[in-house]
Amino acid sequence: MLVCLTKKRSEQSPQTLWRIVIYYNTNSKVNTNRTVSIFDTTLRDGEQTPGISFTPEQKIIIAHQLSDIGVDVIEAGFPASSDAEFETVKRVCAEEGIRPLICGLARSVKGDVDRCIEAGVDMVHVFIPTSKIQRTYTIKKSHAEVLAITREIVSYARSKCDNVMFSPMDATRTEPSELLEVCIAADEAGATIINIPDTVGVSTPSAMREIIMMIRKNVKCRIDVHCHNDFGLATANTIAAVEGGADQVQVTVNGIGERAGNAELAQTVMILQSICGFRTNITTEKLVETSRLISRFAQIPVPPMQPVVGENAFSHESGIHSQGVMANTGTFEPGIMTPEMVGHRRRLKLGKHVGKHAIRQMLEDVNIRPSETELDSIVAKIKDISGRGKKVTEFDLFEIADDITGSHYDKKMFILDDISIFTGSHAIPTSSVRASVHGEDKICSRTGVGPVDAAMKALLAIAPGKIQLKSYQVEAISGGTDALGCVTIEVEDEKGRIFDAGASNTDIVIASAEALVNALNSVYRYGGFET
Ligand code: KIV
Ligand code: ZN
Repeated sequence: MLVCLTKKRSEQSPQTLWRIVIYYNTNSKVNTNRTVSIFDTTLRDGEQTPGISFTPEQKIIIAHQLSDIGVDVIEAGFPASSDAEFETVKRVCAEEGIRPLICGLARSVKGDVDRCIEAGVDMVHVFIPTSKIQRTYTIKKSHAEVLAITREIVSYARSKCDNVMFSPMDATRTEPSELLEVCIAADEAGATIINIPDTVGVSTPSAMREIIMMIRKNVKCRIDVHCHNDFGLATANTIAAVEGGADQVQVTVNGIGERAGNAELAQTVMILQSICGFRTNITTEKLVETSRLISRFAQIPVPPMQPVVGENAFSHESGIHSQGVMANTGTFEPGIMTPEMVGHRRRLKLGKHVGKHAIRQMLEDVNIRPSETELDSIVAKIKDISGRGKKVTEFDLFEIADDITGSHYDKKMFILDDISIFTGSHAIPTSSVRASVHGEDKICSRTGVGPVDAAMKALLAIAPGKIQLKSYQVEAISGGTDALGCVTIEVEDEKGRIFDAGASNTDIVIASAEALVNALNSVYRYGGFET
């Protein structure tokens, strides 16, 4: 049964109801003394995402990143699930320089606990289903049997390890009185922390808060929460649990995990800190880089609209918003969370809603200073192109502005002289490029997984500085085999700035190479690659 014991609005204290308003009005945070610890389960529940399988090497890199960002506990895996998993957890435990506690998952059987201990974990996380539906159909045990197993396994695990987390699985669908009994049993048997999982993501924030408050009143040990996102409430439920008294939250990077995933690390941390005023040990400036690392390893792109870390999180297109943000960034951003705080950047975007002020700013940044009439023509042209559904890149903006102002900018840093491709059903795709870079002739060959990949690698190898390809999109204009391929790409320079550019050609490799060259020239125009 889902516990849903919402208080009537009149019973809630005005401070709870208007905490955010109070925050804004007094600019003083309410919960500044409490530090919430962060338990990251990207390597365990996160890896249970359909289609994700991290290599052992990737897991070590992720563990280092989680350590660098400041999580308190890393759940490294489920050692009893396979020999390979056991070996990886063991490697993470033995790895030098990883600061957080390493936790291993175990079913409520002694053999699983033993495998965690053999792997060298600092914390054992034992779980058992407690809801009637899971007890009946998965472990076929009564509530009384679950109680007895809980007592036995928790005290066994405690005899082997100083840190024992106990999870009554499917807690939010467990009869409240039974849930409480199991938690009290685990507490008395020596659990150092009890985790309350919303296993199928059916709780609501008010219900979660009540459940945690009920357990808080009855157990001595610390309380943790693990929320799934089936209804999109994982992060909200996690925050509500902290408000109800939870000491620790379970999260994954980018919210990966079973089905719709888990509470998302970056959102949870930023809400806890910036809105609620709790403390965490997270270095928030590393949130975006952490998200990108996991996205790359998991091969799951971060949606542009993803809060905090998504590409659009601090991007502004409409004239009113861009103008407001240029005058004061707090006008159309939260203010209590800035791009700098999370390692992101603010971007003014080109599109049909773009305003004059944003375009003037973008042009002034590259020393193009149009007159008022020229600026009007540039804006009209951008709106016209994007109004017809075509993406306008920064490179296009510069070309249009050069054209309208008559200031032909010929200081091209990178000129592509030639590109050739060798590919076939049994050949390794190879590309050779010849280009003039800062006036110097350069030749380079690279292989790749396909001809476009090979061409991009060859060009990036001769580009000055450390440029990374961030996104690549190709569209065919018209449907035939002679279709024009339109390629749009984004690159990131050493300072983390993103530049986009595009090109079209009937040859998709040439369109890709030209788009990259255009982006490299935009980087140069914005003052990158200074020599
Ligand atoms: O979702 C869940 O209930 C779990 C448990 C193992 C804690 O992942
Ligand atoms: Zn889970």
